[in-house]
Amino acid sequence: MKRYEYYQPRSLEEAFGLMKKYEGRARYVAGGTDAMIRVKQQIWQPEALISLRWIEELCGIKKTGTFKARALRIGSMTLWREIETDPLVASHCPALADAAPMVANPQIRNVATVGGNLCNAAPSADGAPPLMVMEAVLTITGPGGAREVAISEFFKGPGQHCMQPDEVLTAIVIPEMPLHTGMAFLKSGRVTQDIAIANVAVWLQMEDRVCKKCRVAAGAVGPVPMALQGVEAFVKGKEITPELLLEIQDKAAGEVTPITDVRSTEIYRRTITGVMVKRAMEQAIKQAKQASSQDDAVSGTEPKNVGAKNLSQVRAKDFSPLPYDSPLRKLIRFNLNGQAVEAEVMSHKMLSNVLRDTFEFTGTKEGCGQGECGACTVLVDGESVNSCLYPAFEVDGKTVTTIEGLVGEGNQLDPIQAAFVENGGIQCGFCTPGMIMSAKAMLKRNAHPTEEEIRKGISGNLCRCTGYVQIVESIKGASEVLAANEVKS
Ligand SMILES: Cc1cc2nc3c(=O)[nH]c(=O)nc-3n(C[C@H](O)[C@H](O)[C@H](O)COP(=O)(O)OP(=O)(O)OC[C@H]3O[C@@H](n4cnc5c(N)ncnc54)[C@H](O)[C@@H]3O)c2cc1C
Ligand code: FES
Ligand code: FES
Repeated sequence: MKRYEYYQPRSLEEAFGLMKKYEGRARYVAGGTDAMIRVKQQIWQPEALISLRWIEELCGIKKTGTFKARALRIGSMTLWREIETDPLVASHCPALADAAPMVANPQIRNVATVGGNLCNAAPSADGAPPLMVMEAVLTITGPGGAREVAISEFFKGPGQHCMQPDEVLTAIVIPEMPLHTGMAFLKSGRVTQDIAIANVAVWLQMEDRVCKKCRVAAGAVGPVPMALQGVEAFVKGKEITPELLLEIQDKAAGEVTPITDVRSTEIYRRTITGVMVKRAMEQAIKQAKQASSQDDAVSGTEPKNVGAKNLSQVRAKDFSPLPYDSPLRKLIRFNLNGQAVEAEVMSHKMLSNVLRDTFEFTGTKEGCGQGECGACTVLVDGESVNSCLYPAFEVDGKTVTTIEGLVGEGNQLDPIQAAFVENGGIQCGFCTPGMIMSAKAMLKRNAHPTEEEIRKGISGNLCRCTGYVQIVESIKGASEVLAANEVKS
């Protein structure tokens, strides 16, 4: 891999200064789940990467504006995990909240950002359709100042957007929805963690059974995420009956312009888009009906201006990185399996390299190296991440736990390890440490998961030998042991 310098600026001004210095030979990186793969595959060969993780003004979710023009401001560096769990997002933008758990897998969502999702400008980006139907406005800042761009104007082609290379997407501003509205997001993919074959979002404003306004957007069915304006015009002002819904399904299938590729055929994409638009519309109508009864109860009340403290704010503030010795080499200090450690690392090294090569913790495996298989899963500050995509410079000041760091009572195996042994969950062995680390993170968050929740929790860990039955049983067994221990203590 070509060497590159890695910078961690603390302000936008510092980031712009670095971009200027490199005159187009540097790239921004957020969570890195798209960017680091491009660097590893040498599709990008930058002289420098400029990390946006440490810039506080890019973080956080908060309500803004006055009573008449209220909005939700989502900082571009907000993680998908935060979108998935934030109550403000759930109440203001349910379609975006619906999309979040469908993005990739837990390890990716723990580092990937919503801003990175838009700036990557993939036609399949799951963040795009919900934000389009909510008419989000993007704040884009460059050395010359900030500008606002409607999301409908943002995408210009596959992988292309309207920003200059030195500009940063700073925030996504979502206007508050009027009364009597409902929205929904649906996605079709080959497997849980795959990018979409097609995705759709629908937003409706209803007056009794008549649709006053409607917005529909679809992804992975054209060169950019697209508004289905034909469908929108067709639905407006009509009473939505079951017969009309079937017509809408046909119109949506006719309006998209998909291609056949490795994920799907053109005809399947067309058909599934029609079906999903119909279903999303049914869900949105239901939601609008429920909202109407609540709206009527609360309309006219002044909102509280809530500013939620959230993970990315905490992340930016509580991080006091050591100044980098050089953008090519840095002394990082972190807590590894309960011990304070330090290591001098090169800028192109990932956490998996440091764990395996520097500390010889070879329990962390490297399979795909591209965020797909989960063999390299470790915990960073208690959350599962793919260490193969995690730049080593970013580990500074954090707490890392690997499989070697799991110890149960009396220096015995951790209950999850013991359950894997007992239930035959250790299959090929190569994938097992990653699966156990994912299970550890999941059980910390949800001590009593259902089978479905277990399967979703390990959706970022692939098995290509025996299958998941014994692995799921092992995690179920571990949760029972942990619950029994809880009762005893
Ligand atoms: C295994 C796997 C599964 C995936 N599944 C899905 C999926 O189901 N759905 C989906 O939509 N995506 C998926 N992705 C793609 C990716 O995870 C998401 O698009 C993610 O949100 C990207 O965010 P990031 O912070 O990692 O962006 P990065 O990789 O850091 O950046 C992406 C691009 O945006 C630029 N950029 C990032 N932030 C900014 C900013 N604020 N201003 C200017 N430029 C910026 C970077 O320079 C880069 O070009 C998947 C990826 C992997 C590896
Ligand atoms: S996900 Fe990291 S090695 Fe496969
Ligand atoms: S457990 Fe490794 S391939 Fe199945």
